[in-house]
Amino acid sequence: ITKIILDTDPGIDDVFAILFAQAHPAIELKGITTVYGNVTIENATHNALYLKQKYQLQADIVTGASKPIVRSPLGPTVVVHGEGGFGDVMVPSEVEGQADPRPAYQYIIDTVKAEPGEITLVAIGPLTNLALALQADPTIVDLVKQVVIMGGAFGENNHSGNVTPFAEANIHDDPHAADMVLTASWPVVVIGLDVTEQSFFTREYLDKLRDDAGEVGQFIWDISRFYLRFYSEKVGLEACHVHDPLAIAYVINPALFTLREGPIRVVTDGVAEGMTIQKLDSRVYLHDEWMSKPSQKVGVAVKNLELLELYRSSI
Ligand code: BDR
Ligand code: CA
Repeated sequence: ITKIILDTDPGIDDVFAILFAQAHPAIELKGITTVYGNVTIENATHNALYLKQKYQLQADIVTGASKPIVRSPLGPTVVVHGEGGFGDVMVPSEVEGQADPRPAYQYIIDTVKAEPGEITLVAIGPLTNLALALQADPTIVDLVKQVVIMGGAFGENNHSGNVTPFAEANIHDDPHAADMVLTASWPVVVIGLDVTEQSFFTREYLDKLRDDAGEVGQFIWDISRFYLRFYSEKVGLEACHVHDPLAIAYVINPALFTLREGPIRVVTDGVAEGMTIQKLDSRVYLHDEWMSKPSQKVGVAVKNLELLELYRSSI
């Protein structure tokens, strides 16, 4: 069993991922740390508490950062995830339960230190909480089992982002945090758009989830109506990408993915702000900004049919 802390900005595909992690027996979902991104931080924590109540999650819910470390905040992506983050589904204004009193970065540090080598951090929102944890206690790099990230875009023809031609949303939201997290010497696996845009939930697939997966399937179907409309109207796709669940799928079965290795940097300002770049050659350069950075793993392909079957059979 892999113990995870899931750092998330829920968010429609974040819900797909949370319910996947909760459902699969190979994962113990210890904590859900929230972050601004798809929604405000207040909204993100409220949504997480609602899911905890609705599905009797054992996971602690912990409030994280409300804004990026350096850049100015971009605000919620209402056009993609709806006013409250769950598309057309309105979360009740009163939910039971409370968030852990600690800030998310402190919860991450405490949990990792309590079980050295045991905790996998799975981040499916902007990387601010992980960067703040690193800043507050750099020793956690040696105590975390692994860091799995949904974010970034490494496309080969220089056109690969989703919020700009070069940048993916989670990285673009806090490029400084992302650069810290991706260049720290802990083992990182990045599952970016190069992989997540290879996989789709079609209308038929979601209909089948609704029919076969009880109340959870119905909820996934309900929140995905808005997401499908966004993809249809703005992206020209009659399906939605399966972004965040792929990070969970990697934890469950890494063999579904093809990876490549090399140090990663993030462009922190300018027209390519938020762009992720991986050094793939073995040449030695004079510039320490690249040569001193650890090699990390980036997903380049996924066995899509097996992934969809894994998701369907788990939910
Ligand atoms: C990422 O951005 C958010 O909209 C999604 O939840 C996902 O984490 C995809 O770029
Ligand atoms: Ca997300």
